[in-house]
Amino acid sequence: MLGLIKNNMTTLKALLVGAGGMGKTWGDNLKDHPDVDLVGWVDLRPGAAAEAAEALSLAPAYTGTDLGKALAETRPDFVVDVTIPEAHRDVTLLALAAGVPVLGEKPMADSMAKAREMVAASEKSGKLYMVSQSRRYDAKLMVYRQLIQEQIGALGILNSDFYLGAHFGGFRDEMASVLLLDMAIHTLDQARYLSGADPISVYCEEFNPAWSWYKGDACATALFEMTGGLRYNYRGAWCSEGKNTSWECEWRAVGPHGSALWDGVHTPEAEVVVKTGGFFSETEPRTIAVPEGVPGGIAGSLRDFIHALTTGATPMGECHDNIKSLAMVFAAIESSATGKRVPIAI
Ligand SMILES: NC(=O)c1ccc[n+]([C@@H]2O[C@H](COP(=O)([O-])OP(=O)(O)OC[C@H]3O[C@@H](n4cnc5c(N)ncnc54)[C@H](O)[C@@H]3O)[C@@H](O)[C@H]2O)c1
Repeated sequence: MLGLIKNNMTTLKALLVGAGGMGKTWGDNLKDHPDVDLVGWVDLRPGAAAEAAEALSLAPAYTGTDLGKALAETRPDFVVDVTIPEAHRDVTLLALAAGVPVLGEKPMADSMAKAREMVAASEKSGKLYMVSQSRRYDAKLMVYRQLIQEQIGALGILNSDFYLGAHFGGFRDEMASVLLLDMAIHTLDQARYLSGADPISVYCEEFNPAWSWYKGDACATALFEMTGGLRYNYRGAWCSEGKNTSWECEWRAVGPHGSALWDGVHTPEAEVVVKTGGFFSETEPRTIAVPEGVPGGIAGSLRDFIHALTTGATPMGECHDNIKSLAMVFAAIESSATGKRVPIAI
């Protein structure tokens, strides 16, 4: 049983860990939520949490560098972990051991071994640990999934293309497996969300064209075998100039009743078979209106998490599910390194 809080208070007390670029964005996100009070903010860098809180006109009871002290002093209803991936395990384990549910930034961890420890800690504490896989909360992605489920049927083919010329500078320019480690987790998780299938194995090649400005491999091609016979093709590049795709990728989904496409920007579209017998079947277009006002990105994941805490529902990104997306990333990297097809073990 995961993290059900029966809380009679009108607001939930949040403790934020990490006051870097994304931590500040989370500070804003927590501030905007009507049912959340930020009671503490922690960062390893002395003064960073207090400075970030002041910049957002927030006055949490605790700001400082000591997570253990912050947990004891503020007794939060939940922790939001926006530290670097290398620190996610330690922050999450400390919070869960104190009986506090955790909403953590992606990726869950920087290794599968650490991720497994985190899932085990959630089980042991009986508290929810959810990864904020924010790109799932896109109304158009949700509509695309609905279109697939209602019009296309169980997928046999799913393709995603990600081609951007991203000049970040900084650590990404030096990082190994930069595309797979830093970005592909979003796309691979979206593939699981869209198909409803789980990964079985992968063959992947990472590479870096001569003109790439990255030190590590900025491109990858991966073929995943998924449950139900689905083949999912991932193609991506972070050093591709011109004709950029969106950050959400360009998608093609093919099933027994037709095909559905989404460019990551516009309303997804499908064509479904209405008459067979000729060389080509007759098809008709299908689409679904995109609902307005659905909280997207981290506002969406926070809403999902709060809903889970207050009702006991299982949110998207719950650790037992999210670790499957992380496993796809690490298996793809292993396949590329060994030149072999790699089974995906959770
Ligand atoms: N969902 C998204 O679209 C998205 C976008 C950007 C970043 N992220 C994720 O957010 C996380 C943070 O990224 P960022 O860009 O803010 O990084 P960052 O380097 O700017 O900030 C990280 C902060 O965490 C602090 N920190 C590190 N270890 C700590 C620990 N053990 N305890 C307390 N504080 C600690 C650092 O001092 C730093 O201030 C990463 O996991 C990243 O992948 C997600």
